[in-house]
Amino acid sequence: EAIEKGGYDHFMMKEIMEQPKSVSDCLRGRVISEKNHVKLGGIFNHFDDLLNAKRIIIAACGTSWHAGLVAEYIFEELARIPVEVEYASEFRYRNPIIGKGDVLIAISQSGETADTLAAMSLAESKGAVVLGVCNVVGSSIARNSHEGAYTHAGPEIGVASTKAFTAQLTVLTTMALMLAKEKGTLTEAQLHDLLVELENIPSKIEKVLKTNDAVREMSALYKDAKNFLYLGRGFNFPVALEGALKLKEISYIHAEGYPAAEMKHGPIALIDEEMPVVVIATRDSSYDKVVSNLQEVKARSGRVIAVVTEGDALIPGMVDHVIEVPDTHEVLMPMISCIPLQLLSYHIAVMRGCNVDQPRNLAKSVTVE
Ligand code: G6P
Repeated sequence: EAIEKGGYDHFMMKEIMEQPKSVSDCLRGRVISEKNHVKLGGIFNHFDDLLNAKRIIIAACGTSWHAGLVAEYIFEELARIPVEVEYASEFRYRNPIIGKGDVLIAISQSGETADTLAAMSLAESKGAVVLGVCNVVGSSIARNSHEGAYTHAGPEIGVASTKAFTAQLTVLTTMALMLAKEKGTLTEAQLHDLLVELENIPSKIEKVLKTNDAVREMSALYKDAKNFLYLGRGFNFPVALEGALKLKEISYIHAEGYPAAEMKHGPIALIDEEMPVVVIATRDSSYDKVVSNLQEVKARSGRVIAVVTEGDALIPGMVDHVIEVPDTHEVLMPMISCIPLQLLSYHIAVMRGCNVDQPRNLAKSVTVE
């Protein structure tokens, strides 16, 4: 097992560190920016159904659901197709309105999640096209979808999903760009820029991983917190949810993710000097708004850890800690901004003596209801 962990103490750390490779494996042959080439070979017979979908419904659970939520923002922004994101467990039991002309995308690392499988068969029985985005080759979800795309992240052993999440984002972004190209919702130049940026993601992740030591040091200051709040807006809102989930899963600290602007409708009441608040505040179209949310937290003595874009001159003077990440296009930022949050949850959990790879009460794949 020590050999399988590749020199790391835990599979989770190994898998976090593998992300530059897993993302580039996922892009291989699918994206070639020089030629403005973007294609998922697994979606062929049903590509037109996807392109002309009245609506895309994404069904998933857990971390895969968070990838779906990022995808909603990306698909609508780039390809202008309406998207709804559903918890598979809710969708399957609520007599949903779905039929011909709709496409359901099931996202699943394991490809075995019972609720996601059930959502797929319901959608199929009502006439929708069903696509799968899975990591495990030959899994039930892969076999039961009409077509799909693998994430090619390699085996993920740690219960808390890390590299599968960034690979899901990679596939879903590729899918959105493939549709945008065909639909003409992006100019050739915009498409080109995004493809170049997508190809640069692995090296940017590599750079974020260099913050590991700094994140470890910071984790020591927060390991005894009772609660954590994670805030983000726009493309980074689902990243806030995912950051909070990672911390809950492996450190057993209560954490909530929230869209930063919603804070004033509830969580702001919880903020005091005992409450660490992780704010994803990279430079994008919601930057100014996030900065004011961050000030609202500081005004109530919350302790703020901010994930910022390299070279940010404003935020470091306002908060307790910053973690810098390289700049990229805002639609791609979740692939980068999620990384420091993975590291933070990992180190806090290790310092608390938790079983990082196999947290209590959780399973890698939930094959029963
Ligand atoms: C379990 C795992 C999570 C995972 C979720 C969905 O809860 O512990 O890490 O995100 O199931 O799993 P799936 O395999 O469908 O992505």
